[in-house]
Formats: sequence, structure tokens, C-alpha cells
Amino acid sequence: MDALSAILGRTAAREFLSQPVELAQLVKIADAGRHAMSARNLQPWHFIIVRERETLHELGALCLTGRFVADAPSAIVVLKDRNNARWADNDCAQAVQNMANAAWAMGLGTCWVGNFEGDKIAAILGVVEPWAVFTVLPFGRPAPSRRESSTQRLRPRAQTVDLERFGRPVNG
Ligand SMILES: Cc1cc2nc3c(=O)[nH]c(=O)nc-3n(C[C@H](O)[C@H](O)[C@H](O)COP(=O)(O)O)c2cc1C
Repeated sequence: MDALSAILGRTAAREFLSQPVELAQLVKIADAGRHAMSARNLQPWHFIIVRERETLHELGALCLTGRFVADAPSAIVVLKDRNNARWADNDCAQAVQNMANAAWAMGLGTCWVGNFEGDKIAAILGVVEPWAVFTVLPFGRPAPSRRESSTQRLRPRAQTVDLERFGRPVNG
């Protein structure tokens, strides 16, 4: 799948087939994260690939708005460098988007988890300073769902994209 199709077609996946995800695919996804833009190229991120079922269960229990992590076949925990307070959140967010799009191009889905018990997750994974949990991303083949297509649920282009001046929607 080409990059644009992945970007335009991706939707959040919260339910997954039980089929395992190959380690090589997860490494590729982490590589996509590593290739994100970052302020001053400081790359304030670190990625932990998790495939052990017991660990995934433990992480899911600590993902307050992402219990679905427990049932995913794999996850990547994204860490941010606490010493890079100015831009780390922006940089890590870009890494996450890269990873989501790359995964989609490989037939895999994910969903950002925004609320979690970061210190407990860090303790389970042996994370040391200055690293802190930025988010937990489950990865797996998305279970078939009745969800609408991404185009149907987006705010219309006419309300979000202007040409030359604010309030002059672009045509086409
Ligand atoms: C910063 C951020 C935090 C999010 N947190 C959660 C979350 O905690 N739980 C969840 O189910 N989805 C979460 N999402 C997923 C969004 O709900 C989802 O991306 C959004 O509804 C758009 O849908 P799409 O990803 O299919 O385009 C989060 C997304 C972002 C960008």
C-alpha cells in the first residue's frame, strides 16, 4: 500500500484478530517512529515492543481508556525523554502517527491510548530515568467492524481547508 492510501485509509483499531504479529513487522513499525521529524533532531523517544501475553494483560489493566491493549497480540510502549520538556510531546506524537500509518500499510491497526498509569507501566517494563511512558500502542490485524469509513467521519474539507484567505474554502 502506498503512503497516501495508508494515511487516508487508516482508522483507529481497538479490536484485533488473535493472530500474532511478527517481530520483524513490529521492528519496522518502531523504525517508522524513529524516522519521524523531531525538533533539533533530538529524537526524544524510545520504543519497547511487547508480545508476551501476560505483560499485555498487565499493561491493559493499567490503560484506563485502553483496556483493549490486554487483548491485542502485541503493543509498542512509546517512551519520551523527560529532559526534553520543550518538544518531546510533539516529537513523540509525530512518531506515533508515523507508526500508525506504517502499521496500516502493513495491514495492522492501532489506537492511541491517552490515559494510563504511566509509573506502574514503567515499573513493569524496567524503564529508567529520564524516560517516561508517552503512550501505549496496541498492534494487530484489525477485527472486522461496522465502523464508517474515515472519509465519512471527518469534518468536511469545506470547513477545514481554505485557499489564500481564511473563510474561502478551496474547491475540488
Ligand atoms: C492524543 C490522543 C489520545 C487518544 N486517546 C484515546 C484513548 O485513550 N482511547 C481510545 O480508545 N482512543 C483514543 N484516541 C483515538 C481517537 O479517539 C481517534 O484517533 C479519533 O476518534 C479519530 O479516529 P481515527 O483514529 O479512526 O481517525 C486518542 C487519539 C489521540 C490523538
